[in-house]
Parts: sequence; C-alpha cells; structure tokens
Amino acid sequence: MSLKERIDSLLEEARKIKLASAEESEKYRIRILGKKGEMNELFEEFKKIQPEMKKNIGQALNELKTAVQEKIQQAKNDFGSAQQADNGQADFDMSRPVEDTVGHRHPLSLIREEIYRIFGKIGFDISDGPEIEDDWHLFTALNFAPEHPARDMQDTFFVEKNGLNDVALRTHTSSVQIRTMKEKPLPIRTLCPGRVYRNEAVSARAHCFFHQVEGLYVDKGVSYADLREVLLYFAKEMFGSKTEIRLRPSYFPFTEPSAEMDIACSICGGKGCQLCKGTGWVEILGCGMVDPNVLENCGIDPHTYSGFAFGMGVERIANLLYRVNDLRLFSENDRRFLAQF
Ligand code: DAH
Repeated sequence: MSLKERIDSLLEEARKIKLASAEESEKYRIRILGKKGEMNELFEEFKKIQPEMKKNIGQALNELKTAVQEKIQQAKNDFGSAQQADNGQADFDMSRPVEDTVGHRHPLSLIREEIYRIFGKIGFDISDGPEIEDDWHLFTALNFAPEHPARDMQDTFFVEKNGLNDVALRTHTSSVQIRTMKEKPLPIRTLCPGRVYRNEAVSARAHCFFHQVEGLYVDKGVSYADLREVLLYFAKEMFGSKTEIRLRPSYFPFTEPSAEMDIACSICGGKGCQLCKGTGWVEILGCGMVDPNVLENCGIDPHTYSGFAFGMGVERIANLLYRVNDLRLFSENDRRFLAQF
C-alpha cells in the first residue's frame, strides 16, 4: 500500500468509526495518535518522499489528523475522558499532589499550644532542655535523696552508667527548671515543655514516654497565694470558666510545701462517675513552692527570692478534654484517630 492509500484508508475509518465508550476512544487515540501510533509512522515516511509530492500528502495527513481529533473530541463530549472513567489508572501521574493532603494538628500539639497561649497571656515564656539528661539536673539539684526510687533502673531508662555521672532519658521536665534557673536572669516566668520517659510496660493507661509541661516562676515575694491564683486562672481557661480546683497536700523533693491540684470532674460535674472514680475530682498536676535547697543549688539566694513550680501531663489533659481512653493512640499515628482533631 502506498503512503497515500494508507492515509486514505485511515481517513475513511476516521469518518466511519463509531466510538462507543471512553475506553474505545482512548484505544483509538493511542492506535492513531499515540507515540508509536499510525500518525507518527506516516509522518516518518512523509519525511522520505519526493519534495513535489509533499504538498498533496501533507494536506492529506493534516486532514486525517483533524478527522481523528474530531472523533476523539466527540467521544470525550459524549463519555468524558478515559481518565475519569477508570479513576486515572490509564494515565497515572505519580507527581500529582494527593487530593487529601491537608494535615491535622496532633491532639497533643493542640493541647500544648493552648497551654502556651494561656500562660503566655500572663507573661510566661518557653524554655528548652535536653531529653538525655545527667543525674545532677535530673535528680541531685532537684533535692532527690540518693536512695530515691527514681534513681533506680526499674523506674528510669539509664543511657550510660558512669559512677556519679549517670546519664538517663529524662523522667520529668523538672530538669529544665534547673537549667533555666542557672541560665536565665531573674525574674523567671517560664514553661518547659517536652517528652519524658519512664521504664513502664506499655498499656492503655501507661506508656514508656509521654509529654509534660513544667511551669516555673521565681521572683522576689512569690507566694503560695500566687501559685493558687495562677493555677485557678489556668484551670478556668483550659476547662471552662466555671471550673473549680482544689489543692491537696502532697510531696515532691523539689517543692516545699507541695500539692496536687484536682479539678471538679468535667464529666459528672462533681457528682461522681467512672472517670473521677466516684470522687467528683480528677488530678491534673503537681505543684508547690520551689524548695530553698533547689534555689540554692542553682545559685539563687532563697532569702531574697522565692518561687513556685508546677508540672502537668499533656496526655492527661488531652484525655480529659477529648475523652481518649487509650494512651497508645497518641503515638500510633493512625490517621483515623488523628483526623478527628
Ligand atoms: N516532676 C513531677 C512529675 O514528673 C511533676 C511536678 C510536680 C513538677 C510538682 C513540678 C512540681 O514542678 O512542682 O511527676
């Protein structure tokens, strides 16, 4: 068959052909106009023909191309494109952005940022410290007795045992208090957020790592009344303006006096339910007046300065606000969980 005859027969086909679906149209397009299709082959041969024949054959080729394109366009109007018909499989573009790329803030980030906002309004800044910490910042400077159980391998992950300079994954963010008091000028009003580690079996109620936010205020004349007012303000901002708090006497080596703060149970409103175990109160944080020994350890004169500190678990607050009853959900990165926030 000569070149002209091949063009004519394809032109006749293009005029007659009935494309009955998007798939058929796509197949036809590939056969004629595709990279290895008839059209390209014809153009290759077209390059080789005598110059005096080029005008005629060229016109015929263009006529064919237009006829094929019109047919395909017609099919597209009738059936949509093949990509739409088969969900893009026919022409899969790996570089195209995924439709559902809008991310979600992690619930713990949402809570942490809310804590920053609330304390930021009353002048608290943010301090940072390392997750791998030495014994002095973690325990000794915080007034822990040498035989305190937190110094035991059973409770703490030690990274390296090296005589007195034991190095561990920090068990609490109170270590950042020490760094801040040593480094920052007074007065100090700061939050120390971060991940902490404990040697616990992982379950719905305990995890080997979780998140805390520590608070510290050191100045002349800071009193327990200041601590109470600041924590009441926080509880009302975080859990609602009607929230009540109570401070129960407690013990921490680094505060004296020490207390634990409860809020009236947000679920039963104080009547008693499963969450508050029938007491009407749920514990939120530990707090107290910075022990004079701790101030001294950081080079601050406890006769001139005083301070308060508090520490809370971010997961605990997220549990209360979002009713998440399995701690593991926070670190499994299951999109079905994360997409809810
Ligand atoms: N560090 C304590 C813990 O991990 C929490 C805490 C209690 C921090 C009392 C404080 C505080 O600053 O004053 O359980």
